[in-house]
Formats: sequence, structure tokens, C-alpha cells
Amino acid sequence: MLSSLRIVSRQAALRRAPALNLAVARSASTWANVPQGPPVCITEAFKADSFDKKINLGVGAYRDDKGKPYVLPSVRKAEQKVVESSLNKEYAGITGVPEFTKSAAVLAYGKDSSALDRLVITQSISGTGALRIGAAFLARFYPGSKNIYIPNPSWANHGAIFTDAGLQVQKYRYYNKDTIGLDFEGLVADIKAAPKGSMFLFHACAHNPTGVDPTVEQWKEIEAVVKAQGHYAFFDMAYQGFASGNIDTDAFAVRYFVEQGHNICLAQSFAKNMGLYGERIGAFSIVTESAEEKKRVDSQVKILVRPMYSNPPIHGARIASEILNSPALYDQWLGEVKGMADRIITMRALLKENLEKLGSAHDWSHITSQIGMFAYTGLTPEQMDKLAKEHSVYATKDGRISVAGITTENVGRLAEAIYKVKG
Ligand SMILES: Cc1ncc(COP(=O)(O)O)c(C=O)c1O
Repeated sequence: MLSSLRIVSRQAALRRAPALNLAVARSASTWANVPQGPPVCITEAFKADSFDKKINLGVGAYRDDKGKPYVLPSVRKAEQKVVESSLNKEYAGITGVPEFTKSAAVLAYGKDSSALDRLVITQSISGTGALRIGAAFLARFYPGSKNIYIPNPSWANHGAIFTDAGLQVQKYRYYNKDTIGLDFEGLVADIKAAPKGSMFLFHACAHNPTGVDPTVEQWKEIEAVVKAQGHYAFFDMAYQGFASGNIDTDAFAVRYFVEQGHNICLAQSFAKNMGLYGERIGAFSIVTESAEEKKRVDSQVKILVRPMYSNPPIHGARIASEILNSPALYDQWLGEVKGMADRIITMRALLKENLEKLGSAHDWSHITSQIGMFAYTGLTPEQMDKLAKEHSVYATKDGRISVAGITTENVGRLAEAIYKVKG
């Protein structure tokens, strides 16, 4: 009896064996070859530090003078209006909420722009999503080589976005570490040296990570070289209004290129200038040549977006649209954007002043000549390491600090820490 039972169960086990082996193999090793990737942010070390006066200068989000996240009062009001209007939750179209995209275009290109009538625009998952749609469109339809030139250095995600979309990323000179400023000659030389008809990505304002922007005159020279070489310009405008405090000043390069006849494409983000980070609201647009071309390009943008995410979320678009389309809220918002930009400009000045008061022998004028949320301090990776380990000041190894993380309370301690590691 026992032995016949054994035989039956053995036979059953044998019948199950292939499936079992597969299950064992699967649970043990399906992802066995997935390598450990590097960390994508520095917040882990910051979180692990228990010092109560630790400073986080790594976040790419605005903080108020108490170091707290800031919801713009205009955004609160707009959101309330959206909620009170009890709108339904139906899907938006593939290209998003039309009232939003229409006003986003006016904000970027200007209300009298010749581009508005021949513009293809789609709502996007903030600036990153706009870049990603743009990259996919260029990968599919750009008639020339699939190389795209980005500044060296650039926002770390640019390379990944373009590569993942199938473009080949090349770099053009941008930053001169000796002057902690723009390498204008290098930049122009590299634009000239690239094969004719290449794609170039430009940060419209508040270059991330360096905070170094070309001047108006330099933009004019850049435009002339881009035109002479027959290159194509893709603008990333993640900080309109946030750099200078003025939305028109910050849109200069975009509008100038369009005026000079470039049919650019553009990624916009409302994360920083409206503080709508988590709402993921942005737009991608392409200036076309004619109404007929617009129709064709628009159809292909829809074909690209549909299998990616069908259609974008509506809440952030409704908030942004409410602000952009009601004159009183719009004026209030302009004042609040300026308030954020001014606080950042003030913190830059205070940091420089404190370093000078401590007797630092270094020239810190780049801290105030740079613009936008980030400052490139010129500190080495070793010095940044010391700042974190010995002074609980956390930022990226490349020496970039988020000025938005500086407050009137911590600026003195920050200056002392920098003075101690750099002199
Ligand atoms: C240069 C640049 N482009 C685009 C983005 C996109 O940000 P988001 O996807 O949050 O709009 C950022 C954010 O830091 C940025 O610095």
C-alpha cells in the first residue's frame, strides 16, 4: 500500500516537474541580470542626517524663506474656482484641455506672435513629458541626422530623454569652469562645426545646472550661426518668469528665433513658475510653415501621444488655464512669480555678501551674475563631499546648489560652511 502510494506520488511529481522547474527558475532568476542602477537623487543622505540645522540644496523645487514648499495664492484661488465649478471628469482630448494649450502658447510666444496661427501644440506631462514627445517626434520625422546637440553640462535628464527616444546625443561647449561663466566662443565654434542641419537643444532661460545664460546680444549671434548652418532649434523653457521675474524677458530667445524665421519646437513646464510640480502640467509645441503643414504635423503628434498615455490629466491644466485666462488672477500670478524670482536674487546677494564678510579671498560675483533656481558654485566634488559630511549641507557633486533652499536663517551657516571648505 505504502509503496503503491509512493509510486503514484512520484509519478505525479514527475508530471509536475517541468512546470515546477520553470517556476523555480522564474522566481530565482527572471530579473537576475538586472544591474543595480546608480541613485537618481541625493535625498537619501539628507534624510539619514539627524542634525536639525542640515541644509538641503539639492531639491529642484522652490522653497519659501522658512524653507517650506510654497503653494502660490493665485493657484489656491484658481483651484478653488475649478472645484466650485463642479466640472465633470470626462477625458480630455489627446492634446489636452484646449483653453490651457491656447493660453500656454500665448504665454510663450507672445500674444502678437506670427507663430500662433500655425502652431501645433499639445498638453504634456510637465516639461519632461514635453521633451519626450518632442524627442519622439524628431526621432520619427526629422529629415536630417538623428544627432541632437545639448549643452555641456545640461539638465541630467536631457541625455536620458533623447537617448531613450532613439536620438543620438552630442554635446556642445557651454560652460567655462575657469571663468564660471559662458564659454561663448566654444559654443559658437561647436554650432559652426556641427554638420549642417543638425538639431540643437537650447535652454531658453535659467540654464540648469549652471545658472549661466547668454546675453541678448549673444542670443542674437547664436541665432545667426544657427540660421547660417541650417540647424534646427529645440527650446526647453522650464523656468519662464522664474529667472528674471518677467515672463517676456525670459521668453526673449524663443520669440527672437521665431521672429527670425525659425520654425522651432518648444517644451514648456508650469512646474516652477506656477509651483504646480506634482500636477505635471506642461506643453509641447511646433511652429509649422503653413495651415496645411500644421494639419499634417498635428495629426502625427496625436498618433504619437495616443499609444503613450491616451490623453493627459485635466486638473493641473484647469488650474493653469484659470490663471492664464482670468485677467485679475493672471496679474496676481505675475506678481507672485516675480516674488519668487526676487527672493532667489536676494538669497544670491546675501550668500555672496556673507562669504565676503567672512574674508573669503575668492571672487563670488558668479553667484549673483548667474540666474534662476540653481547656482554653480565652482566647488569641486571633494569640496561638495566635505560640505555634506562635515557641515550637513547637501547638494549635487558637480557644485550645483539650489538657491531656492537658502533662507535668511540658514544663509550665514551656509556661507561659513562654504568658507571652511573653500577658503
Ligand atoms: C532644464 C529643465 N527642463 C525640464 C525640466 C522638467 O521639469 P518638469 O518635468 O518637472 O516640468 C526641468 C526640471 O527641473 C529642468 O530643469
